Amino acid sequence: MRLEGKVCVVTGGAKGLGMEMALLFAKEGAKVVAADMGELSYTNENVEGYKLNVTNLEACDKFSKYVVDKYGKIDVLVNNAGITKDALTHKITEDMWDMVIDVNLKGVFNVTKSIGTHMMMENGSGSIINISSVVGEYGNVGQANYAATKAGVIGLTKTWAKEFARKGAAVRVNSIAPGYIMTDILKTIPQDLLDKFAKMTMLGRLGEPEEIAKVALFLASDDASYVTGHNLSANGGMRL
Ligand SMILES: NC(=O)c1ccc[n+]([C@@H]2O[C@H](COP(=O)([O-])OP(=O)(O)OC[C@H]3O[C@@H](n4cnc5c(N)ncnc54)[C@H](O)[C@@H]3O)[C@@H](O)[C@H]2O)c1
Repeated sequence: MRLEGKVCVVTGGAKGLGMEMALLFAKEGAKVVAADMGELSYTNENVEGYKLNVTNLEACDKFSKYVVDKYGKIDVLVNNAGITKDALTHKITEDMWDMVIDVNLKGVFNVTKSIGTHMMMENGSGSIINISSVVGEYGNVGQANYAATKAGVIGLTKTWAKEFARKGAAVRVNSIAPGYIMTDILKTIPQDLLDKFAKMTMLGRLGEPEEIAKVALFLASDDASYVTGHNLSANGGMRL
């Protein structure tokens, strides 16, 4: 029970990696609020679904207040909501660029602005985990917009690790850069390309959502009490 008594928020928690994190955190004793544009694809007595579009700053402020009013505090935030709109750079439209930046980068800022401040000023502690990507670390053909956001959240991570630890607050901020993990976000990638990505890892396979959830659990828990400002690559040894 590594998260006994903790209140956790997971954005994009309706399915995929967010769902695995929400369920694992609940199993480890936490109360979890899974904020997502869509309905939760599962039920769990310790996971509450909340309809939220992370691109809306006002809605994110309202959400943060709702969770603090209801549960008294927020100890863990996982900024996991994310989308892709892939194309070679000359084919990326303004809409495709803006949508990915809005969700993956501005959305992370919107949610953290109020929750990070709550952790520092009111709670005095907390763990923020931003979900980056192997694509943010190494770049990838056809993903300029996505790579920009996923590299961007590593910059936010390092900045917030400094900012939110002021005033004696024990707020840790880290990111996870997963490799290719089997969820809906990979649906548009052809199987032969996925097979190629699997071969590019040292372990010779793609990852499972539970393997990322376990990394998030480590960073969320007191086991990582001296880890902050770090980007943890969880990609089976992949270099793009
Ligand atoms: N699966 C992978 O291979 C992989 C690899 C590296 C990084 N990631 C990152 O992990 C995170 C989770 O991805 P996933 O694979 O579980 O994808 P997914 O598509 O299965 O889940 C993403 C979730 O985010 C939600 N979402 C999207 N836009 C939102 C918004 N504006 N507001 C609130 N919720 C929103 C969706 O409704 C969905 O439930 C993403 O940030 C993704 O970029 C995934």
